[in-house]
Amino acid sequence: MRRRPNEGKSVMNANPSAAIATRDLCKRFNGFAALEGLTLSVAHGLIFGLLGPNGAGKSTTIKILTTLLDASAGSAAVAGFDVAKEPLQVRRHIGYVPQMLSADGALTGYENLRLSASLYGLLGAGREARIDEAIAFSGLGDAAGKLVRTYSGGMIRRLEIAQATLHLPEVLFLDEPTIGLDPVARRTVWDRLQHLREARGTTILITTHDMEEADLLCDELAILHQGRLAATGTPAGLKAQVGPESTLDDVFVQFSGAVIDHGGDYRDVRESRGTIRRLG
Ligand SMILES: Nc1ncnc2c1ncn2[C@@H]1O[C@H](COP(=O)(O)OP(=O)(O)O)[C@@H](O)[C@H]1O
Ligand SMILES: [Mg+2]
Repeated sequence: MRRRPNEGKSVMNANPSAAIATRDLCKRFNGFAALEGLTLSVAHGLIFGLLGPNGAGKSTTIKILTTLLDASAGSAAVAGFDVAKEPLQVRRHIGYVPQMLSADGALTGYENLRLSASLYGLLGAGREARIDEAIAFSGLGDAAGKLVRTYSGGMIRRLEIAQATLHLPEVLFLDEPTIGLDPVARRTVWDRLQHLREARGTTILITTHDMEEADLLCDELAILHQGRLAATGTPAGLKAQVGPESTLDDVFVQFSGAVIDHGGDYRDVRESRGTIRRLG
């Protein structure tokens, strides 16, 4: 079953103050339609989960919202700024943790944070205070002085979140933040994200293949299927739509027409774990 609940509606007009809003967003790669008219709205202060089978268009959506890719048609606004017309403003107001590990294993945690601080134009005493706060926030403590290649996968992810939020962004994007992490490390990442949302009111958009993560961490979800929005709602609301006693796995299967893929695809896992291995 395929549904397009937002077809023809203008969410941006309906909710101009949303932290993230897209309207009829399309992306074609050499004629192949990766996104076909995606209309989506994310209210401020939510942890929002983008779900969908491999190839559904999740990473493409994140790359357009973070100004790394141009849309082929349609529009999108992040933190009130148009991604096509005001990309510099968008970049100032967002943080991004890509799927591939981005911290430098040959530097210490502190040095990685210094690099990010320079990237964001943070200077002087304010910079050191922000870095100290980030080290405390990410629970790295004394490990901040050690090379990142000695870190566990969970520590690296927490460092990357700290790097991506040094400039106190309004909206944080994370592409599969917990793939390849063990359950304990995964929970420490969830903790950090919940704390960011609660302490700073950061709006957080994550992509995930992990239905438990979608259920326990996310306030609202959107399920993508072949570049279109198949369903959107709260985890409880989506489960209720599918039927009594439904799990989020049932929701995913119903709306994406796919079987659950618990670990992401082989390539995702190999790339993420390969990076962790290289660092470790
Ligand atoms: N740079 C690219 N060139 C050609 N095709 C691409 C490119 N990036 C993504 N695609 C294709 O677009 C579709 C959506 O990809 P993606 O957004 O990465 O999906 P997801 O993150 O949901 O797994 C896939 O079929 C993918 O192969
Ligand atoms: Mg992806």
